[in-house]
This record gives sequence, structure tokens and C-alpha cells, in this order.
Amino acid sequence: MTVKLAPSILDADFGHLADQVQAAAAGGADWIHVDVMDGQFVPNLTLGPAVVRAIRRATSLPLDVHLMVVRPHDWIGPFRDVGADLLTFHLEADLHPHRTLQAIKEAGVSAGLALNPGTPVVHAVSLVELLDVLLVMSVDPGLGGQPFIPTALARLERARAMLQAENRADCELEVDGGVKLDNIADVVRAGASMVVAGSAVYGEGAVELNLRDLRAAAAQA
Ligand code: DX5
Ligand code: ZN
Repeated sequence: MTVKLAPSILDADFGHLADQVQAAAAGGADWIHVDVMDGQFVPNLTLGPAVVRAIRRATSLPLDVHLMVVRPHDWIGPFRDVGADLLTFHLEADLHPHRTLQAIKEAGVSAGLALNPGTPVVHAVSLVELLDVLLVMSVDPGLGGQPFIPTALARLERARAMLQAENRADCELEVDGGVKLDNIADVVRAGASMVVAGSAVYGEGAVELNLRDLRAAAAQA
């Protein structure tokens, strides 16, 4: 199984965002990961539907919109309308995650659920039937360039076992935060099928080469 690479634009050059997104596509990215932060669920404020609309115009790659926001249900329509292909919200941000997942699917968008490092994977078990993506955070959300939290490997293994046990081996298992050349094979071995990388792609060096190096390192798993 070839892992899907989803570069996060959080650390990209926002003054040349279309070019940065197209460089990721040229480098073989499978998705574009867009981090939406509202300054309430996480201590950072990033972008809204207007920027996603601009990204939609810049690429045909599917857009993986990571909602780090309170009241995620409110944002389904606005991000669907500007071209989001996947909407992933945080279990910790929603008192009614079952309803929100159903609403995302009814809106015609793939539905993802994100778990913070402190949230037991088992808390998602009764929602697995609705998921297109389960996102295991390997950093505390809010910033790019943070160190990978090593317990994420065991959490990925537990998540993969839970998906298998619930007959949802088809559900994507995404990992997000601190993934670099030196640990991407570890996260793939632990069960990740979709990997977000931000600073490893948009930090030092050429975007296309960084992605090709990550793809080669992932293939060592
Ligand atoms: C963090 C975001 C991540 C982040 C990844 O809250 O959800 O997507 O941008 O960036 P790196 O790969 O640099 O940790
Ligand atoms: Zn993210």
C-alpha cells in the first residue's frame, strides 16, 4: 500500500501560496492539508473559506481541511462551498460528533475525526462506522514545526487495530504533526495510510525534493 502524502501549507510562503501548492503537486503530493485554526480551540488563528477558495483555484489535488475550531458543525457549508474534499474536526471540540459527521457526509464531503494526543483512541470507536478518515495527532494542535510525540506510534497501532476490529480497514488512518524523514517509516509501520508533513516539506530546501525524499523514506517501511 502506498502511503498518501498530504503536505500542510501552514508553514508555506503565504505570499506565494498558489506557487507553493503547485510545487507540492509537482512533487507528487496526494492531498493538500489545510489547517484552519480559530484562535479558540487552539491558540492560533490561520485562514478561512476565502483562502481555501484560492487554493481550490490553484490545484486539482483533493483538499484535506483540518478544522481546529470550536463549533465545527457551523463550518461545514462554508468550506464545502469553496471546494473542501475532506473535513476533519476534533472530537474534543464537539458535543455531538455523530451529528456533525452525518452532516459532513450529507453535504457530500468526506468526513474525518481528529484525536488530540491526550484523547484515548477508543473514544472514537462508536463513530468509526461514519469515518472516511481517522486523524491521530502526533503534536498538540496549533503550530507547525513541533517535535513528534513518540506515544503517537502506539496510538496509531491501537487505531489501526480498532479499525480492523470494526471492519473498517478501508478507513484512512492519518497522522499529523512532527513527521520528518527520520520517522515517516515508523508512522507507516505503525499503521498510518495518510501522512501530513508541514515543516518537512515547506521548511528548508525545495518542496518537490522534500516530498520525493519523504516518499522514498516512507517506502522503507
Ligand atoms: C498542527 C497542524 C499540523 C501542522 C503540521 O496543529 O494540524 O498539520 O501544520 O506541521 P509539522 O509537520 O511541521 O508538524
Ligand atoms: Zn493539521
